[in-house]
Amino acid sequence: MIVSFNNVRKYYGSWPALEKVDLRLEEGEFVVISGPSGAGKTTLFRHVWMGDLPTTGTVEVVGFSSDGIRSGDLPLLRRKLGIVFQDFRLLPERTVFENVALPLQVTGTPPKAVRRRVFELLADMELSHRRNSFPNELSGGEQQRVAIARAMVAHPVLLLADEPTGNLDPEVSRKVIDLLVGINRAGTAVMLATHDPRQVPAGAARFVYLDGGRIVDPSYWDGYDQL
Ligand SMILES: Nc1ncnc2c1ncn2[C@@H]1O[C@H](COP(=O)(O)OP(=O)(O)OP(=O)(O)O)[C@@H](O)[C@H]1O
Ligand SMILES: [Mg+2]
Repeated sequence: MIVSFNNVRKYYGSWPALEKVDLRLEEGEFVVISGPSGAGKTTLFRHVWMGDLPTTGTVEVVGFSSDGIRSGDLPLLRRKLGIVFQDFRLLPERTVFENVALPLQVTGTPPKAVRRRVFELLADMELSHRRNSFPNELSGGEQQRVAIARAMVAHPVLLLADEPTGNLDPEVSRKVIDLLVGINRAGTAVMLATHDPRQVPAGAARFVYLDGGRIVDPSYWDGYDQL
């Protein structure tokens, strides 16, 4: 088990963003979290990387528990996770190569090993020719592929992607989803949040639906027909 939510409630003031969430993820699994805007998808993801802690209940992720975690443990937890956001969040003053290399450089990986790993990932993402470009010289789809390469560079146990295709057109989105499916087939667990679960082939993932902060059975979620 690499992720375990145990009866998690999260309140922002008196507003319930998550209610009674129980969710488990095994090593190597692909879980898609969908649901309408405001359902609690981003809140759930923030609990996985412990940017937020539950109001009640516990979250356990790759051996760390929200119960009693210390701020000094957070970098150790996050080193085991790869995180991709809707808005890419690349460093604008650094090249593609430098953006992808950074997580390895900060942990003291020897330069030769850094180059080997970064070149390997840029090739996987079909970005080798863009390695000396800056983020603002790239298309949205290219920027998101750089962000995925950066998230994968340190061999995470789990890749978290919160609406990674939210700023991309449908064709480019399909390519990003294909890359996530490929990453999962190669053995990394993936958690993907999306409004549109139809982006992901039915056999490739387990589908979890959130509505009003609760996990609901998809057959009871009327929003699905309206997608
Ligand atoms: N920091 C916060 N303070 C107060 N309320 C918050 C905060 N973060 C989230 N919320 C509320 O919690 C609920 C869940 O928000 P969340 O961002 O998790 O939804 P979401 O499913 O990711 O939506 P979207 O699809 O629009 O990204 C929303 O009603 C939101 O307004
Ligand atoms: Mg969100």
